[in-house]
Amino acid sequence: IKIYTGTAHPELAHEICDYLKIPLSGADVFQFPNENIFVKLHQSVRGQDVFLIQPMTRPVNKNIMELLIMIDTLKRDSAGRITAVIPYFAYARSDKKDQPRVPITARLLADLIETAGADRYLTIDLHAGQIQGFFKIPGDELTAFHLQRDYLLRKGLDNMVVVAPDVGATKKARNLAEALNAPLAIVEKRRVGNDPTARALSLIGDVEGKNAIIFDDEIDTAGTMTNAIHFLKQAGAKEVYAVATHGILSPPALERLREAPLTELILTNTVPIPPEKRLPNMTILSVA
Ligand code: R5P
Repeated sequence: IKIYTGTAHPELAHEICDYLKIPLSGADVFQFPNENIFVKLHQSVRGQDVFLIQPMTRPVNKNIMELLIMIDTLKRDSAGRITAVIPYFAYARSDKKDQPRVPITARLLADLIETAGADRYLTIDLHAGQIQGFFKIPGDELTAFHLQRDYLLRKGLDNMVVVAPDVGATKKARNLAEALNAPLAIVEKRRVGNDPTARALSLIGDVEGKNAIIFDDEIDTAGTMTNAIHFLKQAGAKEVYAVATHGILSPPALERLREAPLTELILTNTVPIPPEKRLPNMTILSVA
């Protein structure tokens, strides 16, 4: 097999190659001054089983275009099979027409990946599992669940409760609760009055005196997570741990997380987390 990387997350590609004990295949990938992207493979991939690693992380749209152009390059060089390895799939919230006159961008991306020439896709913890159905090519949605579960088990925390920070996260949180043999609690957001943005939180379950583990698929601006952290502390939680697969960390996530009464933030490296975004209480599990 051959492994290639775009410019989105070369560190992860190197880690995967180290794990597999094979070299990372080389390619020139850069932008011209006019922002057009150039790709040239250093060697032929004719007939090879090629994996291209490129999460849809910042700069998101450039990295998506780079992914497509690299797939096209591999296809035109007669690769035997091309697997697009997309550890983080962007636009996953755009998975349905939930209001008039809006696109379904996740579907558009699946179409583009296929049209570019990918034979398979591989991704991790999609925000919405139904995105699998947007692809006609086969693929695998992997999960960081086992890494997260094993890490938490190794910590040996007692008196745990797993918390879904919103109702949408309940199913995954319940799976983790079962794996840790812990109870489940759910933070529920309710609309207040006529203001469409005003929300009140209420808690289903008991966190008092317990080590609360909040479990979500991603932390973007950290609003969901830090609201839940403050709320659980007020409800009497002992220590609060936040666990998520994708550490997107868009502003003002770092400020919010720094100010939150959080014991540990446990993320993975599906997207790069540069040194300036690493908080002292952050642990990064490798999906490599
Ligand atoms: C929402 O449905 C997701 O599971 C996450 O809770 C959400 O993407 C987090 O966004 P933010 O960090 O901006 O609150």
